[in-house]
Amino acid sequence: MTTPLGKFIRHLPKAELHLHIEGTLEPELLFAIAARNKIPLTYPSITALRDAYQFNDLQDFLDIYYRGASVLLTEEDFYDLALAYFTKAHEENIRHAEIFFDPQTHTVRGVPFETVIAGLHRAQVAAEKEWGITSKLIMCFLRHLDEADALRTLDMALPYKKWIAGIGLDSGEQGNPPSKFQAVYKRAAKEGFFLVAHAGEEGPAEYVTEALDLLNVKRIDHGNHALDDAALVMRLRTQQIPLTVCPLSNLKLRVIADLREHPLRKMIDAGLLITVNSDDPAYFGGYLSENYCAIAEGLDLSHEELRQLAINSFTASFLEEDTKKKHITEINGLSMAN
Ligand code: HPA
Ligand code: ZN
Repeated sequence: MTTPLGKFIRHLPKAELHLHIEGTLEPELLFAIAARNKIPLTYPSITALRDAYQFNDLQDFLDIYYRGASVLLTEEDFYDLALAYFTKAHEENIRHAEIFFDPQTHTVRGVPFETVIAGLHRAQVAAEKEWGITSKLIMCFLRHLDEADALRTLDMALPYKKWIAGIGLDSGEQGNPPSKFQAVYKRAAKEGFFLVAHAGEEGPAEYVTEALDLLNVKRIDHGNHALDDAALVMRLRTQQIPLTVCPLSNLKLRVIADLREHPLRKMIDAGLLITVNSDDPAYFGGYLSENYCAIAEGLDLSHEELRQLAINSFTASFLEEDTKKKHITEINGLSMAN
């Protein structure tokens, strides 16, 4: 990140819209939290754990990711986790983050919902006060579990509604289509939550269509396989439905073989509203700027295209229109200076 390209990207004001807070748990913090919670680990060292981060597919990753998250027990743990992310975000000029959390990953282990949300919320307040970073929480349902579990989780969340902006859908995609979660999305919509869902990461274009038609989502997380359906591409373009694309995640989970083959170039050329994001940076080898850098190098993106991606990150956010405009105006100002 010390190259001219790296510096350019680091200095661009950016929003991050696809980030799992549990996926920011670095091995160092994981070991520290496990030690203070007296949880034994199967890995003998931080290095051995990091070396285990080689994945053949999404499920391979999820197995390690859920095991990693199992060290998180107290409000302090969730606060430390989120504050570590915000510290990174500040270093790379992320001005706004829309952050996923997976309540079921914790409540199933007996960690109260309130413990999770209280720690995350306290870190959000601290980051805004210290660095002016704004953020919103998006509560994801685990799609490998049944809808009844998601509905119970939504009930648990309602007392903390003022701290949760939206709902999402994550975990193993194949065989767990959006259609499985229509009732919970309907209820969440009635409660006024923003709606997003992971779709088309490993799953087919039909899952993207289902997320739009049956869940009424306003943004698609990943969406790579949307390109397999020309009519769907046309719809995404016409309605400017944002895709939150995660280049290093796609590489590490073998959704693509090489960044030079990443569909982001085709997505931009098709006129889609594309954003770049880090997904689970502690596991995939790079935070947001590193994702911009990797895709810029892989696809030979110009500074103008990178600026447009940063602008898109605000356009596609759930910020108020005037706040979006303020950030975009700042980027446009930079565009003249550079
Ligand atoms: N896909 C699905 N579920 C997830 C991911 C992802 O990339 N990261 C964390 N949970
Ligand atoms: Zn994700």
